Amino acid sequence: MRSPGRTRIRTRLLAAFLIVAVTSAAGLSAYFLKELEGFALRKLEERLHTESLIVAEIVSEAYMGDGRLSSAETDGLTTALQAAGPDIFSRVRVLDAQGVALVDSAGDDGVGEAYGELSEIQTALAGDYGAATRVTASDRVALYIAEPIIHDGTVVGVAYSSSTTFSIVTLLQTYRTRLLVVVLLFVGVTFALTELLARWLSAPLRDLSDGAQAFAAGDHSVRATPMGSLETRAVAEAFNAMGDEVERVVRELKDEELRTTRFVSDVSHELRTPLTAIRGAAETLLEGDVPADDERRFLETMVRESDRLGRLANDLLTLQRIEGATGELPLRRVRLRVIAERAAESLEPLTDGRGVSVTIAGEGPTVLGDSDRLQQVVGNLLDNASRMTPKGGAITIVLSRENGFATLSVLDEGPGIPEDALPHLFDRFYRAQASRDRSTGGAGLGLAIVHAIVQAHAGTITAGNLPHGGSAFTLRLPAIDD
Ligand SMILES: Nc1ncnc2c1ncn2[C@@H]1O[C@H](COP(=O)(O)OP(=O)(O)OP(=O)(O)O)[C@@H](O)[C@H]1O
Ligand SMILES: [Mg+2]
Repeated sequence: MRSPGRTRIRTRLLAAFLIVAVTSAAGLSAYFLKELEGFALRKLEERLHTESLIVAEIVSEAYMGDGRLSSAETDGLTTALQAAGPDIFSRVRVLDAQGVALVDSAGDDGVGEAYGELSEIQTALAGDYGAATRVTASDRVALYIAEPIIHDGTVVGVAYSSSTTFSIVTLLQTYRTRLLVVVLLFVGVTFALTELLARWLSAPLRDLSDGAQAFAAGDHSVRATPMGSLETRAVAEAFNAMGDEVERVVRELKDEELRTTRFVSDVSHELRTPLTAIRGAAETLLEGDVPADDERRFLETMVRESDRLGRLANDLLTLQRIEGATGELPLRRVRLRVIAERAAESLEPLTDGRGVSVTIAGEGPTVLGDSDRLQQVVGNLLDNASRMTPKGGAITIVLSRENGFATLSVLDEGPGIPEDALPHLFDRFYRAQASRDRSTGGAGLGLAIVHAIVQAHAGTITAGNLPHGGSAFTLRLPAIDD
């Protein structure tokens, strides 16, 4: 899946490496070769200069006047130079005052040749030190040194010495094959290094890319291992943070979806039961021929189940209002004792009918709240407690202050709450005693409403069992100090 415009890290690295390596190697080589060439030339000049000085000194002694040299000296010099010729790497000549060769270390063929036109010879004949470099036909650099031979203050000839040295061009030509091998080795090492480096650098990126692909394919649990450079680590950490976030959001969405589905099926289930009962009763009545006793019973069922439907609709509406309107409750200063008294009073017909007593104990601090909603909380708790408490039993509402909080507990003498039911009590439609006859119980919305109201008041509600039997529901609200 690689388009032609995209190149791998390896290719890019290789290109960068080669450019840097080749330019720096070429630059450095050129610089040092140039230096070497200059150094060799200076050394050669020193040597040729020494040679011509020695020759000039000897010849000066042999000068006979009138432009002649002692033949004995000339012959001796010629013999010595020609004998040493093959062993010394320079050519030494002695020229007369006109620049014509009298002696030549390279052989007698050179004797008689005229050099008077050359610039270095003219300089030497004028009494100065003459030097010149020329490139020979074989691309070598030749150095020429001309030293004047002075006798009694006049220039009587020139000691002329020359030799060749290497140039960069000849050096490169000589070492051509060896250079090629070195360059190949160099490129090979560069390739190997690049490969290693590319692997090392791209490993964390490959890991990341694998992770990202798996993630995109739907596996939201994959995480990258932060490794490599600071930058790749940062990317891996950012990827992981993003992964956590996405995983959380997806989980929440799934949970929400699940809750909605369950809620809808719960609601329809709750609606179906009373509707079936009403329909059954109505059909039986329609068929006629029903004894008067039964007729009354069927009508009562219809009324009771209709009430149940009405309550269900009200409860659902209440829940939806409270949960949808967080922070919009009209909050006033409220004394929980007053709330408890009102709730107990309004439920008196019910509790009396069930034969249970309700007592209120203690005082709590003032809280901020919506008194109607809070009365609904206490009412729902009292309704449950009175339903669970056997005839003749007692319910106690205890108010107190507990470091910064006002607490209200409803204690009953019922069977208590099974351990496994505790975590679900405040869920919608949850009933601990599933087998219980629906007609005596509610839809399981009471505690869900309690929970929603308490949350809207920034408080908490907990349920537990009392050591000597019965259950306790404790409401905690932030106290305001008066
Ligand atoms: N004081 C209590 N003692 C024992 N169990 C309780 C008590 N209060 C509540 N429960 C259990 O918790 C369940 C949920 O209570 P909740 O008030 O939400 O629903 P409900 O009373 O069944 O119906 P609704 O309140 O909607 O009429 C009850 O069905 C009951 O099993
Ligand atoms: Mg209830």
